[in-house]
Amino acid sequence: MLKPLSKIAGPQRILVTGGCGFIGTNYIRRQLAQSFREIFNLDKCTYAANPQNLAEFEGSNYHFLRGDICDRARLAELLPRHRPSAIIHFAAESHVDRSITGPEAFLDTNTVGTFRLLEAAREYWSSLDGPDKDNFRFLHVSTDEVFGSLGPDDPAFEENSPYQPNSPYAASKAASDHLVRAYHHTYGLPTLVTNCSNNYGPYQFPEKLIPLVIRRALCGESLPIYGDGLNVRDWLFVGDHCAAIDTVLQSGLPGETYNIGGNAERNNRQVVETICGLLDDLVPSASGRPYRSQITFVKDRPGHDRRYAVNAAKIQQQLGWRPTCNFEDGMRWTLNWYLANSEWLNRIASGDYQNWIASNYEQRAAL
Ligand code: NAD
Ligand code: TYD
Repeated sequence: MLKPLSKIAGPQRILVTGGCGFIGTNYIRRQLAQSFREIFNLDKCTYAANPQNLAEFEGSNYHFLRGDICDRARLAELLPRHRPSAIIHFAAESHVDRSITGPEAFLDTNTVGTFRLLEAAREYWSSLDGPDKDNFRFLHVSTDEVFGSLGPDDPAFEENSPYQPNSPYAASKAASDHLVRAYHHTYGLPTLVTNCSNNYGPYQFPEKLIPLVIRRALCGESLPIYGDGLNVRDWLFVGDHCAAIDTVLQSGLPGETYNIGGNAERNNRQVVETICGLLDDLVPSASGRPYRSQITFVKDRPGHDRRYAVNAAKIQQQLGWRPTCNFEDGMRWTLNWYLANSEWLNRIASGDYQNWIASNYEQRAAL
């Protein structure tokens, strides 16, 4: 009978995939600050990766392994070599707009890549015995977007809500969730799945709404809101997501899925106006005009999901996790981080990033 790890022992060596991205970076930094665990970070280094986020830790109990989760041979070699006691799987193509213009990379990494990783994990786990085998965990980090879109009065997504993915991104993640479920059900692999709402916080690539708006506001550029701006997301501070992942790793039951959310539903107008109001306080614009005067409503995203909301009662009641940071405090903290790290934002927003901004926004005429 599989038990939660807190009743046994915690994992000591963790293989993180996609640790050079937004949430993976925050997760690894938290691990290195709060535990003595050894972390192996397998990352392909796509446009969304920033290995420098973690470079200062190289040589301690942090090891960067460049590689692709689709690469069978690489996975077959590194698992027995590093002998992780858990895999935390973040690696993904993660931006909905890019999944609309180029879905194939999403199928490759999110679906086939997760399959390859599951296969490699199964083979490695089968070779273990005793406590190493019992205590091994495969934690798959997924999204609330697999559940589709809610109407204004619909109840929030629960763990057993039907899967109704609407974008190629959501569909590729939904497929990966199903594969993880099947590997537990069929082979007994001790898996855990988390489905989390929209995150915000430090180190987020500025193609996503919040860092995009911060950067453009400071550069005096237009702040593009898709459609009528009344699409709702449930926002969670990334540190709270990382804490939830640790809680599930430590205390979750293999085979179970856990929803994670911030209980902070906001529509996109509210989010952008919150950022503008905070910036007016912190760094009044040189023109003397409020930042909200830069807001422009632009052509909507095709198939744009109207509302996401997460019911996180299961993780709260069964595992004792809850968000610690409310939206307004988290946003203030986040803005201060981006202001103090403008060099990071400018470095990451060069090169290919400019090509993406040109191709995504030039075809979105102002409404
Ligand atoms: P991100 O795009 O910032 O980072 C993804 C990382 O994965 C990058 O470092 C990239 O180089 C790496 N990667 C991509 N393809 C790879 C491959 N084939 N092999 C190895 N590495 C590869 O993404 P994020 O926002 O940090 O999201 C991390 C995970 O969390 C994803 O699985 C995403 O679906 C999930 N998630 C994200 C959010 C959110 O709001 N950002 C919310 C819920 C769930
Ligand atoms: P995003 O950060 O891309 O996350 P997701 O699509 O995974 O929820 O977008 C968050 C919301 O912001 C979503 O409703 C789309 C909207 N949005 C804009 O209005 N303008 C933008 O320029 C971007 C990138 C997103």
